[in-house]
Amino acid sequence: MNSAAPLDRFPHRDLLGIEGLSPAAINLVLDRADHYMSRDSGQSAKGVLRGRTVINLFFENSTRTRTSFELAGKRLGADVINMSVDSSSVKKGETLIDTAMTLNAMHADILVVRHADSGAVQLLAEKVHCAVINAGDGAHEHPTQALLDALTIRRRKGSLSGLVVAICGDVAHSRVARSNIHLLNAVGARVRLVAPPTLLPAEIGRLGVEVFHDMRRGLEGCDIVMMLRLQNERMSGALIPSVREYFRFFGLDREKLAVAKPDALVMHPGPMNRGVEIDSAVADDLDRSVIQAQVETGVAVRMACLELLAANLPDPETLQASNH
Ligand code: CP
Repeated sequence: MNSAAPLDRFPHRDLLGIEGLSPAAINLVLDRADHYMSRDSGQSAKGVLRGRTVINLFFENSTRTRTSFELAGKRLGADVINMSVDSSSVKKGETLIDTAMTLNAMHADILVVRHADSGAVQLLAEKVHCAVINAGDGAHEHPTQALLDALTIRRRKGSLSGLVVAICGDVAHSRVARSNIHLLNAVGARVRLVAPPTLLPAEIGRLGVEVFHDMRRGLEGCDIVMMLRLQNERMSGALIPSVREYFRFFGLDREKLAVAKPDALVMHPGPMNRGVEIDSAVADDLDRSVIQAQVETGVAVRMACLELLAANLPDPETLQASNH
């Protein structure tokens, strides 16, 4: 450990979703990540995961999540392996479970997994002995994205409790939206969903949110505007009349943003489609947009997650002795 005080224990072996996490567990991750945001924490962090192996297993494309998990693992001194699914035996027909069992037999400590199917990461976690982090499964959850969003907000606004957060766009296909809804509700923020009816999930009534189909009404007086990408890869059939129409009614531009609070922050998990869900003038306005800060915070949050899950594993030296 790189700090004098012992870490509080994260009360789960895996991080599969935000649903089911207590506010205390969420704050434990955020506080630890906040520690890693400070530059002077870097030097002493190298030993935290020494002797540990982290494997990134991404069955879907990623820029931010995969790279930041790799950076996070390396900054903590772990051996990090990026498994390229395209050049793996998955391409010869090996199943998800057989791939996981193979990595398990190599005594990985933490598997970071992204998969196109909701529930796939949980299934995999049930088959392996190591800790598993969900790096995004279908339209289900993307817990580390919600945690980094929360820390980005907390660092700017001081607290999440009582804030009004408008999540706008393709909520139906968004794992980022689901994880954020669970987290924001758990910590006492108020969540509004702003979307056309075709882009809202069927379970909307159970999510504890307010729903708006008019962007100006949905953004009125809010503290945070969180934009989502149209997830065309998960849509079956056309759910919007045209991209032009969509931008006109649901794209964030300066005019629509003007009804939010004057100090409202603009967020986007990336990748962005400029001119579809967000105008460049807003995305690049550093007085309002925290999109780059979200990326920076992502590394610290992933360091915290890796550290907290590793702290629950048997000591690497004990493990090595028992394997001989
Ligand atoms: N936000 C996010 O998950 O981005 P990537 O798909 O690039 O990892």
